Amino acid sequence: MIEEIRKVEEEIKHALEKIKTKEDLENFRRIFLVRKGKIQELFDGLRKVSKEEKPIVGKYLNELKEFTEKKFKELSELISKGDEKKSQIDLTLSGRTDYIGHFHPVYQTMEKMVNIFVELGFRVAEGPDIEDEYHNFDALNFPPEHPARDMQDTFFIKSDKKLLLRTHTSPVQIRVMHNKPLPIRYIMPGRVYRNEAISARSLAEFHQIEGLYINHNVTFAELKGTMVEFSERMFGKNLRFRFRPSFFPFTEPSAELDITCFLCRGKGCRVCKYSGWLEIAGCGMVHPNVLKAGGIDPETYTGFAFGLGIERVAMLLSGIDDIRLFYANDMRLLTQF
Ligand code: DAH
Repeated sequence: MIEEIRKVEEEIKHALEKIKTKEDLENFRRIFLVRKGKIQELFDGLRKVSKEEKPIVGKYLNELKEFTEKKFKELSELISKGDEKKSQIDLTLSGRTDYIGHFHPVYQTMEKMVNIFVELGFRVAEGPDIEDEYHNFDALNFPPEHPARDMQDTFFIKSDKKLLLRTHTSPVQIRVMHNKPLPIRYIMPGRVYRNEAISARSLAEFHQIEGLYINHNVTFAELKGTMVEFSERMFGKNLRFRFRPSFFPFTEPSAELDITCFLCRGKGCRVCKYSGWLEIAGCGMVHPNVLKAGGIDPETYTGFAFGLGIERVAMLLSGIDDIRLFYANDMRLLTQF
């Protein structure tokens, strides 16, 4: 009899180790713990045990029964706790998003602008961010006393007053004139720096795209045609254009280009400051002194140039009215592009 009990005990211990699920538990209960189960069978067998042995065998059997029931209870609790844990998952919570990286909105705007000019036949050139006074000012016909040369407007590099962070992309015009064969048809995107108080409208670091076309008999009409074609591809059709007389040392005549506000279609809104017009570029015919500085004979060649602010275009297109937002690295803004 003792042998039989020991065998069942082994079976029980073995079966306990394998219990993982509710179903395993139920199977275990059916084999060992029900009225017709193996433990009860052993109790039934007690009848055949001699009087002397009965207390010993009975005690052993009782211990086995208690042990089995205790283990069964423990495992039941453990398994149902696991189930509870599972059921605590809140299916109404919103899911986690996997963020996919992408280009910065200002870079995306620049790329779009560059692609349009490339479609119009322009090539792309770049120049250094650290420039010298000659390329940034002298060669561009800035008089020696021009206020832009002041320390208050320009970041000079301490060790050498002749070196500075370029204040515009126009110095690349001079580099292109020196390095590329005629005719010249280039755009020059890049970062520029100004010693400005940071505000909703201006940063000390921003981006521009410069354009330059030099050939025989280039006229102001071609400048207008290029700016109109670019604007329609960038901002949409049915715009009106206004070339407003202006002044830049490196162009003569000079103009600023306004287009109909494409958000309100000229009716007046927050973005165009209720004027119906948006200023998008500075432009003009390249000044003869600038052509000369670039080693090009102004008697034989003429050209036009233009400059566009990239952040400004990105702001107009997106309706963002604070330029600082572009560089605040706030995912709530950046993921919208
Ligand atoms: N360099 C000018 C600026 O930074 C923009 C500009 C105006 C560029 C007229 C040009 C131009 O090429 O023709 O404000």
